[in-house]
Amino acid sequence: MRFSALLLPLLLAVPSFAFPTSRPKIPELPAPFHPGFFCGLPIVPRFLCPRQDGSALTVSTPIGTARGTSDDAGAVRFAVKYANQNRWQASTVVTSWQLPNGQSDVSAMPKACPQLGMNSSSFAEDCLSMVLYVPPSVQANSKAPTIMWIHGGSFTQGSASAPGLDGSKLAAATNSIVAVIQYRLGILGLYPPSGETNLAAKDVMNAMRFLQKVLPSFGGDASQITIAGQSAGASMIRTLLAAPSAQSLFKSAILQSDTMDYGFYTPAIHNTLLEHLKTQLNCGTDSTCLNALSLDTILDAEDDLEGSAPGLTPAANFAEPLRTVHDGHSSPPPSLQPPNSLVSTNPFW
Ligand SMILES: *[C@@H]1O[C@H](CO)[C@@H](O)[C@H](O)[C@H]1NC(C)=O
Repeated sequence: MRFSALLLPLLLAVPSFAFPTSRPKIPELPAPFHPGFFCGLPIVPRFLCPRQDGSALTVSTPIGTARGTSDDAGAVRFAVKYANQNRWQASTVVTSWQLPNGQSDVSAMPKACPQLGMNSSSFAEDCLSMVLYVPPSVQANSKAPTIMWIHGGSFTQGSASAPGLDGSKLAAATNSIVAVIQYRLGILGLYPPSGETNLAAKDVMNAMRFLQKVLPSFGGDASQITIAGQSAGASMIRTLLAAPSAQSLFKSAILQSDTMDYGFYTPAIHNTLLEHLKTQLNCGTDSTCLNALSLDTILDAEDDLEGSAPGLTPAANFAEPLRTVHDGHSSPPPSLQPPNSLVSTNPFW
């Protein structure tokens, strides 16, 4: 395991963790020359040295030109939309490089996925974005590993710009590319009235497919992706470990504070919660009706489902009432069945 379990939380959780400030990468410079030193000399031509005000940097990828900005901590930061989504349908990987939310400002962070407790001006349904952090040490032919961070928040909260998730220092400290991703949250990600399942997990798989396409352009090795996540982010990784179709998309996994004893929901439990939700939404499976619902209405229904779930099934609790479902489309291969000791207190795995 390349990233130590101790180092990771420190780097992710302590924004003031001290590293020497260095400048964005300048791919043309020979390796022994540190750009931070030469750029301080008046004789160095201006075009060799990036401006310090966050000027755009570009990388050519198979799906178009990536535009990034220099991060204060030394990496170059690229915010990008990795997948298209329509409400309550499976997402699809983008075929061109686009900034999140139709923005034109390369330094703008993506809007979060819709969630309770957040000003609606800060989220958008078009939220399948990620932020890439590429440190100066990673150059075109580095074949650097990548760590893809999956945030926590009970599957209902969180975003790539939450406090502590700037991956710049982690990228610089490990000579790795760090990707901090978003995935659909709450009922938009986990309870499509059509009966489709685990859309949020499929979003995460699309994030990995996107990375495999573009990482080589940034100096990354597409076969060296480590997925790491905390809390619900770790539960998401457990879901992916149980999905044969996800196995080829990453090499290793780090789970921090997985709520393992909660288990996945069975289809029967999932359907109990879904039927309750459908009563609240009052649209049945009529997609015209469902697509016309306001986000306010949807988040109100989510609030209701979160509060009601523990009364609807003993498998639910208030800490993480909405979860992925063991839908049978992704049965764990025998080698990944958990040992009984890990599930003996929970009949719902
Ligand atoms: C939400 O954000 C907008 C834009 O920043 C702001 O004008 C508005 O006051 C905020 N609303 C609340 C309830 O904080």
